[in-house]
Amino acid sequence: MPVAAAIDLTPFNTLALPGKAARYRRLTEAGQLADPALAEDKRFILGGGSNLVLNGDIDRLVLHMAIPGKRLAGEDDDAWYIEAGAGENWHDFVQWTLAQGWPGLENLSLIPGTVGAAPIQNIGAYGLEVSDRFHTLSAWDFNRRAEVTLDRAACRFGYRDSLFKQQGWHLDGQMAITAVTFRLPKRWQPNLDYADLRDQLAAADIAAPSPSQIAAAVMAVRRRKLPDPAVIPNVGSFFHNPLVSAAAAAALRASHPALPCYPQPDGRIKLAAGWLIEQAGWKGRRLGPVGMYEKQALILVNHGGATGADVRRTMTAVQAAVREKFGVELQAEPVFI
Ligand code: EPU
Repeated sequence: MPVAAAIDLTPFNTLALPGKAARYRRLTEAGQLADPALAEDKRFILGGGSNLVLNGDIDRLVLHMAIPGKRLAGEDDDAWYIEAGAGENWHDFVQWTLAQGWPGLENLSLIPGTVGAAPIQNIGAYGLEVSDRFHTLSAWDFNRRAEVTLDRAACRFGYRDSLFKQQGWHLDGQMAITAVTFRLPKRWQPNLDYADLRDQLAAADIAAPSPSQIAAAVMAVRRRKLPDPAVIPNVGSFFHNPLVSAAAAAALRASHPALPCYPQPDGRIKLAAGWLIEQAGWKGRRLGPVGMYEKQALILVNHGGATGADVRRTMTAVQAAVREKFGVELQAEPVFI
């Protein structure tokens, strides 16, 4: 398919922000990335658009990753290795693995976006991160003009972080992920670390849940707390949960005894950005067309007709309110382009 001119990106970003791509190409095969026509231009790689803040028109070539495919790539005594194309819908892929009898991704049900985008910010929820089940990925390296394979160590995963963000590849389009392979251990263990999930299962009287029952519980919790982007445009959590030193957390807790604190393996403390935002008065509050969701203050929502500038205005106001009340800096989670 040839490069198209001036495509409206509103339907391709889940915050439903307006903006046109100067040039656009939808890719359905990894081999298409080798086309010399794509090499020279300034690029942006688009997946499901569910972690994106569009600031208006973009004078770039937007490559929309729509590569399909999912298969059992191999197995050994310990695990199944499942490969999926970058363009596969994440949630549909997770449900498909469960239907095949390959559990392990159930805690990540209903996360919007594509398989190819999942490793970039190391998506995570309900006690699991994609890095916990990641094996390798294939990508097209525009600099070397070659296909590369990266393993788990090479991806340098962190909390909502990876090599792709550390190198700025998610912004400059130098690397396009084409497929991801997951390692799903055959000795399956339920991951019930997260209290909301345990409560949901207990309420349904399920003591020894199956993978599908965990998936159903995750979906129920998510539907209760998080707005469906198709109904209320959003990009999930809008800020990272801030990591602070143990001393800083202790000082804050002295003046705010209810402050939720999650100790991390490196000794730092993760704070709940949603709690900070709610306490700063922003839960359910809006500035023009953009506000923080009434049931979960960490979700920024477009109530209709918002632009990227409206999003930035609300973001800045929320950051200022939290800084003023707690002295904590909130860092935005999505990609701004
Ligand atoms: N809280 C409030 N008020 C709010 C929201 C939250 O007081 O308005 C409190 C909750 O009561 C709880 C704490 O803050 O004590 C944490 O809230 P929650 O369990 O809802 O999770 P979160 O920290 O807000 C994170 C992820 C989500 C993920 C959930 C479940 C980040 C930035 N967000 O949210 O991920 O689904 O945990 O694991 O780490 C995403 O990244 O887009 C996303 C949705």
